Amino acid sequence: MAGSAIGLGNIWRFPYVVGEHGGAAFIILYLLSCFLLALPIFIAESIIGRRGRSNTYGSIKKLAPGTAWQWLGLLTIVSPIIILSYYSVVGGWSVEYLFKALAFDFTVPEEHIEGFFGRFISSVWEPIIVHTIFILITAGVVLGGVKNGIEKFSKICMPLLFLMIIIIVVYSVLLPGAEKGISYLVKPDFSKLTAQTATAAMGQAFFSLSLGVGTVLTYASYMKEDEKIFASGMGTAVADLLFAILAGFAIMPAVFAAGMEPGAGPGLVFDALPFIFNQMGHTSAPWISAIISIIFFLSILVAALTSAISMMEVGVAYLSEEKGLSRKKAVLLLTVFTWTVGVLCSLSFGPLAGVRLAGNSIFDCLDKLCSNWLLPLGGFLFTLFVGWKMPKPDVRDEFTNRGRCNTRIFKTVYFIMRYFAPVGILILFISNLIF
Ligand code: PHE
Repeated sequence: MAGSAIGLGNIWRFPYVVGEHGGAAFIILYLLSCFLLALPIFIAESIIGRRGRSNTYGSIKKLAPGTAWQWLGLLTIVSPIIILSYYSVVGGWSVEYLFKALAFDFTVPEEHIEGFFGRFISSVWEPIIVHTIFILITAGVVLGGVKNGIEKFSKICMPLLFLMIIIIVVYSVLLPGAEKGISYLVKPDFSKLTAQTATAAMGQAFFSLSLGVGTVLTYASYMKEDEKIFASGMGTAVADLLFAILAGFAIMPAVFAAGMEPGAGPGLVFDALPFIFNQMGHTSAPWISAIISIIFFLSILVAALTSAISMMEVGVAYLSEEKGLSRKKAVLLLTVFTWTVGVLCSLSFGPLAGVRLAGNSIFDCLDKLCSNWLLPLGGFLFTLFVGWKMPKPDVRDEFTNRGRCNTRIFKTVYFIMRYFAPVGILILFISNLIF
């Protein structure tokens, strides 16, 4: 679950969404969303998954046969496929940066670093080639059944990534001019908060914890009877949060030190990182910066892959288990689809920048559609399912492992799942539409 949760959502998406929404005040809303909305939904999905012992579609079919709840199963298959389309574009960016790190491209004189990301992203072929590489690796892993291999690899890479981020945080906060970035992250300015900010905070919490798409549900179906649902949710949420906050402190001080715009959008992190590694090369030694950047981008790539695999797996499981397609055909179909949509997303930073959907680029539009609408909608329905459709004794049994743990907090968690979380999401939805 941590492998699915920790990914580009923490390292790439969190810092730029914080920058787009004004810093510390957004982070506070994000923390509230994590614990009051996302965690209850994490628990709800886990309860359905372990009770149903199958993927979203199968679990719901088993727990509520012949009802309209089946649609929830379908919704949670569509959203991860859309996410995978643009996620693999950003995954491609990390492939590109790994290549650059291996070629020592970040330790060259400063003027070569300027506009680095802008040049790369506005070119047509480079981003498409790396996007293709990323999606092919994802498909290869899902098809080749080497998921266990990559999971083992990610157990080495996650701690490495953690270590590298800590080094970058220390380096970044010591840069001249970094103070402004630090206060941007810790001094809230509530005057700029809007309904959109709150929805974006909720969306980020859902995206980062892989919620509302059935990933947690599917993984929970493999959970043993004596594993504690609350502890696993809390553990994943805290680990995920830690990675995100650290990424914020790695990136934002450097953004301010470099005089960049915090609200620059999806390219923010990929703009700031060359600057960081370049400076590091000047002030320490080029080879130190090169080694750190190589390990850093390699670990990001693995973290992104474990997340991407979890997205593709949802679609493959559905197409093969419910629609009778062979795994090979299912992977092929999903790869062609996500690659094609991904190419459009990639081009929306260059030649297709002028194409606007509801005022956003193709990339932003799909990202906002998924994070701010589809995932919370999925989560909303999951809590309704657990809070109102499943019999309370069943929910209690799953949550407390048949009365063996967490019996005292069950009442509170159940209340939050039944009333607080769905109403909270609904209020955010409505206020986002009205204001
Ligand atoms: N949580 C993943 C990340 O932070 C993204 C993801 C979203 C994965 C939805 C699966 C489903 O990168």
